[in-house]
Amino acid sequence: MSSAGAKPRGRIEPSTLVAIHEAAALLRAGDIVGMPTETVYGLAADALNPLAVKKIFAAKGRPADHPLIVHLPSADHLPRWAASIPKDAIALARAFWPGPLTLILKRTADVPDEVTGGQDTVGLRVPSHSIALAMLQVFDSGIAAPSANRFGRISPTTATHVQEELGERVAMIVDGGACAVGIESTILDFSRDVPEILRPGAITPEDIARVIGRRPRVRGEAEAVASAQTAVAPRVSGALAAHYAPRTPLRLIEPALLAAEATALAGEGSRVAVLAHAAPNPQDSRLIWQCMPSDPAAYAQELYASLRAMDALDADFILIENLPAGPDWRAVADRLGRAAVGSGAEDDET
Ligand code: TXA
Ligand code: MG
Repeated sequence: MSSAGAKPRGRIEPSTLVAIHEAAALLRAGDIVGMPTETVYGLAADALNPLAVKKIFAAKGRPADHPLIVHLPSADHLPRWAASIPKDAIALARAFWPGPLTLILKRTADVPDEVTGGQDTVGLRVPSHSIALAMLQVFDSGIAAPSANRFGRISPTTATHVQEELGERVAMIVDGGACAVGIESTILDFSRDVPEILRPGAITPEDIARVIGRRPRVRGEAEAVASAQTAVAPRVSGALAAHYAPRTPLRLIEPALLAAEATALAGEGSRVAVLAHAAPNPQDSRLIWQCMPSDPAAYAQELYASLRAMDALDADFILIENLPAGPDWRAVADRLGRAAVGSGAEDDET
């Protein structure tokens, strides 16, 4: 163990070179640490150490059959983890790594069952956050890291969020500032005949089509939602209908109905928090109104911090204006839909 053992657990460290080396040493010693990425903060462990990986599940309260994403220092590490790498997957890694794209590939025998939930595939990505890359380069191997939140809850986009979620369960949290993307990576499954997006993210089907010359299937798009959920729920926790959820009941509402609904609820004595594109209307002191950006990337970047802030207000309801239709809003709309379904629960859904 390093001298880090004497320092308090759960502390936030500025991202100095010393802190990066300390985090890598803690990972080598089998501990878990909070790691910034460009999407959301991760809860990191040595992906080749099954005991360390088990600590992730315990800290999150996550069922053991939900697989983890392994973060790599570069695509050069792929052969250690992926047994077969389709040509298109290589092209996408070249185009989008480092960046917010996770590729699901057939795994090698080196990858512990604890990481994959016993499946024969593994999720892999090279993050673009400079501190994540520095940690990976110093560690020089795969880092397993789900989002650093308790299971089912809102993903953290700042070091303070991680501390609120996990406290002393983590050895330390490396502070990399607010995440630039703000929602989790696009997950693209290459383990079957046709590439399929399991979770939408900043890299869109159209972005992928531009590289591989065909549009991937998108889970839930051209099929009945019910069948999509039963097919995928045990494999991709981010695909559970209820996820990313605040404790305050959250409702999505058409823009045209927002003002009337907010006023009606406030009139009944409820405290109502509103996330909307438009400026506050009506001006009612019982309404807590937050204006969100009209650009989808900027909206995504602020979304989880805004949900967290609204949840902390102890309001009776959160009302969120439905998003515009269209491919640029798909990933954010996906997260809001799941947040609405999972909201209002006192503790984690099972
Ligand atoms: O942006 C991200 O992907 C963040 C940062 C930290 O990298 N990570 C993240 O991890 O969102 P997590 O565990 O919260 O979500 C990863 C999702 C889970 O829903 C998991 O079930 C799915 O990826 N997943 C991982 N490996 C898989 C596999 N082999 N097959 C299918 N789904 C997989
Ligand atoms: Mg997650």
